[in-house]
Amino acid sequence: MSAFDEWSDNFATHLYEKYKNTKGALLPILHEIQDCLGCIPHAAVLHICDSLNLSKAEVDGVISFYHDFRRENDGRFEIKVCRAEACQAAGSEELVSYIQNRLSQAETQGTFRIEPVYCLGNCALSPSLMMDGKLHGRVSPERFDRLLTLQRTESA
Ligand code: FES
Repeated sequence: MSAFDEWSDNFATHLYEKYKNTKGALLPILHEIQDCLGCIPHAAVLHICDSLNLSKAEVDGVISFYHDFRRENDGRFEIKVCRAEACQAAGSEELVSYIQNRLSQAETQGTFRIEPVYCLGNCALSPSLMMDGKLHGRVSPERFDRLLTLQRTESA
């Protein structure tokens, strides 16, 4: 769990201290904000522009380009299912169908978002997915159900 769950002066100071000597700091800063807050708030964009001496168009362009970055947190948990070759060969398409069906049930409807990704670097343990930022391999429908139960227990 991150120490920061909303944009604040303290979060801005933390980022400045952590990345002040980092070349190409924009992406790591955006990733850290996204990981902590679930989105990149407008105030954070303005701060990044000032601290990195970038135009708003430059920062907005990077946020728009990368699928991972969101402007608003919709409150849903994200499940990234690998759709690349090794995972496809190991049944990721069937797994996605199972997950979609499973998450359409009343108890979970609208609380999860499924996103495709193209290789999580876990090909040897295909099919792979990432749930709440944690990587899981050899995910069968039964294993997915266990992960879902665990996730719902932890977030309750
Ligand atoms: S192809 Fe799925 S983790 Fe690499």
